[in-house]
Amino acid sequence: MRDESPNSWEGRADAHSFYGFTDLPTIHDRGAVVLTHGKGPYVFDVHGRQYLDANSGLWNMVAGFDHPGLIAAAQAQYARFAGYHSFFGRMSDQTVMLSEKLIEVSPFADGKVFYTNSGSEANDTMVKMLWFMWAAEGQPQRRKILTRINAYHGVTAVSASMTGKPYNSVFGLPLPGFLHLSCPHYWRNGAEGESEAQFTARMAAELEEVIAREGADTIAGFFAEPVMGAGGVIVPSDGYFQAILPVLRRHGIPMISDEVICGFGRTGNTWGCQTFDYMPDAIISSKNLTAGFFPMGAVILGPELSARLQAASEAVEEFPHGFTASGHPVGCAIALKAIDVVMNEGLAENVRALTPRFEAGMAWLAENPNIGEWRGKGLMGALEAVQDKATKRPFPGALSVSERIANACTDQGLICRPLGQSIVLCPPFIMTEAQMDEMFGKLETALGKVFAEVA
Ligand SMILES: Cc1ncc(COP(=O)(O)O)c(C=O)c1O
Repeated sequence: MRDESPNSWEGRADAHSFYGFTDLPTIHDRGAVVLTHGKGPYVFDVHGRQYLDANSGLWNMVAGFDHPGLIAAAQAQYARFAGYHSFFGRMSDQTVMLSEKLIEVSPFADGKVFYTNSGSEANDTMVKMLWFMWAAEGQPQRRKILTRINAYHGVTAVSASMTGKPYNSVFGLPLPGFLHLSCPHYWRNGAEGESEAQFTARMAAELEEVIAREGADTIAGFFAEPVMGAGGVIVPSDGYFQAILPVLRRHGIPMISDEVICGFGRTGNTWGCQTFDYMPDAIISSKNLTAGFFPMGAVILGPELSARLQAASEAVEEFPHGFTASGHPVGCAIALKAIDVVMNEGLAENVRALTPRFEAGMAWLAENPNIGEWRGKGLMGALEAVQDKATKRPFPGALSVSERIANACTDQGLICRPLGQSIVLCPPFIMTEAQMDEMFGKLETALGKVFAEVA
């Protein structure tokens, strides 16, 4: 299948590029897909092959790969002021303007923003902020962090500890004090005969029990994605956030909405917390924040946490934390443009306009006897492969079904992501109806081919 010569792009990629989050048997068989450029929602490899990227890169290239306005914003800012930090009371004018804009478009009436280079670092920063705040307020023992099984919050030692995936055990993680509650996936985790409302009540009761067991005064905060993205596009059970928020509030536990994927339009509203109708204490943003044109993350603090952290900082004269490129002027200029493009150039509207077609396409594919469930919100969705639809029995892991489906898609010029036994789709916001039909048509062919081999 692959060009075996050491001088091929695939051979050169193997020689000196260390793969992360990559299925090595697939790489051994097929070689890396080495890309040269992108156009709209398509990317092109070194062999001139074209692929429709149904994953928007890694959820983030929502305006496509060559948006002229974003390129111009980057070029103009590089020419004007190519780099600066945000330490020692200095920061770029772009940084000031982006913070104003983020508070304006946030669900908060007021607040402050802290910048990082990634979503992982933004979660890591938020945890340090909570530890710092509680210690300054005389409760240094409040250090435990609550998240959920299947959650994905990143890869630094802290954000990987927050992530509820078994693979992190190879690093000896999670660190002590990171506790994972149940995943609110009713289709997979609902008990026999349990209604969705009962399931939701069970999730809230579990939270209450964990708080009682651990002691509310040992818990620093609770983090949740509105829809779990890398957990397999898990939409929470009906009323989930409405059930857990009062429990957290009663115990004074801050609630942080990790909107790295959901933020800026993915679920049909600017924020996932708006789609699911809850008010967090802070928001973690990244990915769409710059439409993928610059590595950047942001902690957006609502008014209460903002005031408490300000007081904590003043007590010791500073918040001793920051990254060299925090609030990078080029990143901020790009983010200002990206927010404008998503909110004012029809992209957010296109997400809402395309959602019914997306849902219809997913429902059509879910008629396949080997698709157990389709789930999603806005322009993010997953199809879960099962060997037996009635019992929801998955295929044996050794068959690598989702990996095979993704490879069969790649062969036809479609990029989509295997995740556990699911295939994840999160198309760019610029996608047209015709491109969406191309995506579903190719995926249907791939499902037919692979299920014929394994079913
Ligand atoms: C919800 C969520 N939080 C955090 C992260 C980590 O972001 P990054 O990869 O930029 O570190 C991701 C990445 O996919 C994510 O989906």
